[in-house]
Formats: sequence, C-alpha cells, structure tokens
Amino acid sequence: MRVLGIETSCDETGVAIYDSEQGLLGDALYSQIDMHAEYGGVVPELASRDHVRKLLPLVREVLEQAGLEKSGLDAIAYTSGPGLIGALMVGASTARSMAFGLGIPAIGVHHMEGHLLAPMLEDNPPAFPFVALLVSGGHTQLVRVDGIGEYELLGESLDDAAGEAFDKAAKMLGLDYPGGPEVARLAQQGDVSRFRFPRPMTDRPGLDFSFSGLKTFTLNTANSLRDADGRLDDRSRADIAAAFESAVVDTLAIKCRRALQQTGLRQLIIAGGVSANRRLRERLDEMVRKERAKLFYARPQFCTDNGAMIAYAGCQRLLAGQHSDLAIRVRPRWPM
Ligand code: KG4
Ligand code: ZN
Repeated sequence: MRVLGIETSCDETGVAIYDSEQGLLGDALYSQIDMHAEYGGVVPELASRDHVRKLLPLVREVLEQAGLEKSGLDAIAYTSGPGLIGALMVGASTARSMAFGLGIPAIGVHHMEGHLLAPMLEDNPPAFPFVALLVSGGHTQLVRVDGIGEYELLGESLDDAAGEAFDKAAKMLGLDYPGGPEVARLAQQGDVSRFRFPRPMTDRPGLDFSFSGLKTFTLNTANSLRDADGRLDDRSRADIAAAFESAVVDTLAIKCRRALQQTGLRQLIIAGGVSANRRLRERLDEMVRKERAKLFYARPQFCTDNGAMIAYAGCQRLLAGQHSDLAIRVRPRWPM
C-alpha cells in the first residue's frame, strides 16, 4: 500500500509518500513561519493562500523523490482536522479531488493521530500497548494506546497546551514566533537555579495539566525585573527561560511517570512539537531508566507538523479497511 500524505492544518505544508513495505519514499515540507513571524502568530487567511501556492509543487517534488508517477499511488491521506478551517480545506479538497481523478481511495486523518504515530516511522518502533504524551501547540494529552484507533484519554490540559505556554513565555521575553525553540535556545544560557517556578497540579493525584498559572508566574517574574524603561536584562531573560522550561519539563515528566505507574505499561512515546525539546527528552530518558521503561520519539522534523505522519497514519487506517466517502469534509475542532 503506497500512500500520499498531505498535511495543511496550520502553517506548514507537508507532503510525503509512505509505502507499507518499503517505508518512507519521499518527504517534503514548506514552512510559512517567516511569513507569519512578521505578525507574531499565524494569520489564517494568509496560511490558506500559501498552502494553495505550495501544495501541488510539493506533491510533484515527492513523486520525483520516490521516482513515481501519480499512477503509482494506491491512496491519498490528508489531515481533516483539527486545525484552521481554510488551511484544512486546501489539503482536503486537493487530496479528495486527486484521489477521485486517479480512481483511488482517500482518507481523512486526525492531526493528533498523525503526531501520535510519528515515532512508528523510526527504527525499532514501540509495540502496542504504550502510553503516549502528546505535546503540541494546541494539545497536551496523556493517552493509553492499545492499537490503531484504540485510544483512551488518561489526562489533558485544562487550559493552555504546553506548546502554547512556550509560545506565550517567548512573547513575554521578547522572542520571535514560534517561541518553543527560541525559549529552549535562550534557556541553555540561563541559570536554572535562580528562580523556582511552580510545577502546576503535581501535588495532587490525577493526570491532568494546567499551564496558565505558570504563564502568569512567568509574566510576574519578568515584570518585577524590568527597568524603568520596561527592559529586561539578558541575564534575567535567560534565567527566566531556564526556570520556565525546567518547570514545564518537570511537570510533564512527573505526570508521565504517574501514567506509567498507573497503567503498569513499560513504554512511553512522546510526540508533537514540544517533543522536539532536548531537555524534555533528557529528563524523560532519566525517568524511564528509573522506572525500567523505554522512551520513544521521532526525529525532530517529524515531531513538528509534517506529511510523513499523515501518510503513515492514513496507511494504517486504510490497511484496516477504512476510507472516507466522496464529500470534502473538515473538522476544525475534533476530539481524538
Ligand atoms: O506539533 P506542532 O508542530 O503543531 C501543532 O500541532 O500545534 O507543535 C508546535 C508547537 C509550538 O507551540 C512550538 O513552540 C512548540 O511546538 N515547539 C517547541 C519546540 N519545538 C517546537 N517547544 C519547546 N521546545 C522545542 N524545541
Ligand atoms: Zn501539529
């Protein structure tokens, strides 16, 4: 089964070809980040228009990488939600129309299922069942995964997602969008022991998260250190970034350990943009060693949005006999 995957839910146009026998045959990504950075965040209408411009050239590029004609495809998978409605429509209508023209099935994939399965694209993937920590710009969830489509939500954020908290902290520190990688970079130069930020909701049982209080704490700390002109010195900015990152990473690690203990499972996968964070990987590596468990994650470019995860997830669903009807349907909000 050879599947073309199309991802257009937000600000990256991702296209890839996954073959169930041979693995990944082609993968291309166009990021709109530079365009949106000027506005400090994603502008939905600009995102849709840019997907229209870039999608077909990227489809041609991956076909070329794979040495294939369109007729060599068996199916097309596309992100049908959640995400920006206009952006999703570009991918869905292109995928659905191409599949109709080629006389092959198409399947709409849940964006977070794509993230969740991305570590399966790596060598030595985990076997079901496992615990998954999904940490992206829109989601923070702990999920028990028993198979494709067999997902049990164990806990989630009651307010901001972890990635969203990173992005907001970045803004407070005067860093560019998207803020996660910028905060992580700045944190490397900081003294992590100068401030002690709270680890929200770790002192009570349960697997839910809350990051909005940490955001306020970060803002108050930054404001208390600003000079008369409202400026923050470089030392303090780096120290705040380090304290913030350490608090988020610690909180996630504490809940992951609890999820492993509660389920009795021995495998943890992390997925979504924040799973690219180096400190998070190090902290979780340490934790799983103590728990005699194993940690799995995707290469950094498959942690953030990409077409490969959609091609892979779509392929698994198709192999299980599923496909979508001819309607072009997207779901901007869609619980997994
Ligand atoms: O999964 P993703 O690419 O898109 C969504 O589905 O949301 O995740 C993007 C999020 C952003 O909030 C970004 O700041 C964060 O992931 N992120 C990071 C890192 N790389 C991306 N956060 C912390 N550290 C990183 N290295
Ligand atoms: Zn994503």
